[in-house]
Amino acid sequence: MRKHVTPLISKDAIAGRIESLAHAIATTTQGELTLVSLLRGSFIFTADLIRALHVQGLAMKVDFMVLGSYRAAMESSGTVMLHHALMDDIQGQDVLIVDDILESGRTLAVAKELLAARGAKRVRVAILLEKPGKRQVAIEADFIGFTVEDAFVVGYGLDYANQFRELPYIGVLE
Ligand code: IMP
Ligand code: MG
Repeated sequence: MRKHVTPLISKDAIAGRIESLAHAIATTTQGELTLVSLLRGSFIFTADLIRALHVQGLAMKVDFMVLGSYRAAMESSGTVMLHHALMDDIQGQDVLIVDDILESGRTLAVAKELLAARGAKRVRVAILLEKPGKRQVAIEADFIGFTVEDAFVVGYGLDYANQFRELPYIGVLE
């Protein structure tokens, strides 16, 4: 049976927060930005964020990396797998990593290292959700959408066993 989801962050609250994030990102960015979206979880956040950044007058390139550690479970396996790296050269570029949720920090650490190794000039991070007190790696995001308590959340791109990504809001999986 499909699990129950209790709404936590509404569609409108997400939209409003993304506008503020886009403003904060735009006011601290000079020149062209390269957005690197970490799939799969951040695909919806990325789609909304890039359009909000456009409204703020920012031009950008968008690239993707596919990383995974969750394996049909609510606990991270602890190993981050790189399924797909970037399509384009990012040498000398101002990069903004876009991810869905920062928990242990392992995913972001791997992504940041890879981008630095490929010669990015600057690597910043925009994260939709942050779970405090769960960090295994000392890493922080530059832009944070919402801080959520220690619960397993789904929707707006986030999944449980690759389900619930389609929910327009974020909810707690019961
Ligand atoms: P980290 O590597 O532990 O920081 O985990 C980050 C990744 O774990 C995220 O990109 C998500 O894919 C996944 N994740 C962590 N917490 C949740 C959750 O509450 N719901 C869905 N996915 C989660
Ligand atoms: Mg993810």
